[in-house]
Amino acid sequence: MKKPIVYITRKIPNEILVPYQDSLDFRMWEDEETPVPRDVLLEEVKEADGLLCLLTEKIDRELLENAPQVKVVANMAVGYDNIDVGAALEKNVIVTNTPDVLTETTADLAFSLLTAAARRIAEANDYIRAGKWDHWSPYLLAGSDIHGKKVGIVGMGRIGESIAKRAKGFGMPILYHNRSRKPSAEKDLGATYKEFDELLREADFVVSVIPLTPETRRMFNKDAFRKMKTSAIFINVSRGGVVDEKALYHALNENTIHAAGLDVFEEEPIDANHPLVKLDNVVCLPHIGSASVETRTKMLKLCMDNLLAVFSGESPITPVKNP
Ligand code: DGY
Repeated sequence: MKKPIVYITRKIPNEILVPYQDSLDFRMWEDEETPVPRDVLLEEVKEADGLLCLLTEKIDRELLENAPQVKVVANMAVGYDNIDVGAALEKNVIVTNTPDVLTETTADLAFSLLTAAARRIAEANDYIRAGKWDHWSPYLLAGSDIHGKKVGIVGMGRIGESIAKRAKGFGMPILYHNRSRKPSAEKDLGATYKEFDELLREADFVVSVIPLTPETRRMFNKDAFRKMKTSAIFINVSRGGVVDEKALYHALNENTIHAAGLDVFEEEPIDANHPLVKLDNVVCLPHIGSASVETRTKMLKLCMDNLLAVFSGESPITPVKNP
C-alpha cells in the first residue's frame, strides 16, 4: 500500500525519521538553518498528505487550499499562532502541537533569563571580553536581588506553573494572572491571583508566558509599562506579538522600567541594529526557550507520533482544539 507522504519543512536528523520510515514517506527541505521558501512550500504541499512544520512557516488559508490531500499538520512548537487553526478545522485538517515535553526546559530558560537580566550576566560577560575589568569595586555591575522579590506570572499554564515552582525555590512570593483561576497553583505554590493591572503594579518581575491571540496582541503596551514599578524587570518567553516593542523600548530607555529579558520578538530574527538590542538593560536571546537537545528531540518525536497516529486511523496525541 502507498505510504502517506509527509513534507518536513526543515532538515531534521535522520535518526528521528528511521523508526517511522516503514509507515511514512518523507520529503524534506534539506537545509538545517534556512526556512523553506514560501513558493517551494506551496509547491511541495500539493502532493503531501501530512506536514511537519516549524513556527517559521505560516500555515494559512492560502497554503491549506494548495494542499488538497493534507490531513494533518504537526507543528513543532506548543504555540500555534503561525497556523490558521480555524481554516484548518473548516477543511477537516487536524492540527497538533508539542505541549508538555518542553514545559520544564522552557521554564529553565525563563528563569535563566530572569536571573541574567536581574544580575546583568550578559553585560558582565561582555565587560570581561572587552578587556574592561581593571579593578574590583563595590558597585561594579551591581544588579537587583531575585530572592524575596515578587514574581508576577502572566499566563499560568503548564510553563507558568513550572516557572512558579522555580520562583518558590528562590523564596519569591508568586502573583499570577490568567484567564481562569488556578486552584492547584494557589494551593501547592501559594500563588496569589491578581487582576492584570494589580499584578503590573505589585510585581518586581513580570514574566509573560501568555500565548499570542487576537486578545493578547500587544497587551504589554505603553500603558502596561507605565503601571509597572520603575524597578520592574520584564521577561518575555511567549511570543513577541504580545508586546508593543516601541513602547518597551521607550520604557527601558526612559527608565519607566528597569530591565528586560527577551527570548521572543515581534519580528524574528530581530535585526542586530534594532534599538532594543542596543540597550544595555536588555538581555536578548534568539527564541531558544525549548532549545535543549533532549527537548527538541522529544518535540520532533511527538510530531512524528502525532502524524503516525492520524495515518493509522487513531486519535492524535496532542491535538489543537481551539482556534
Ligand atoms: C513553542 O514551542 O511555542 C516555542 O516557542 C518554541 O519551542
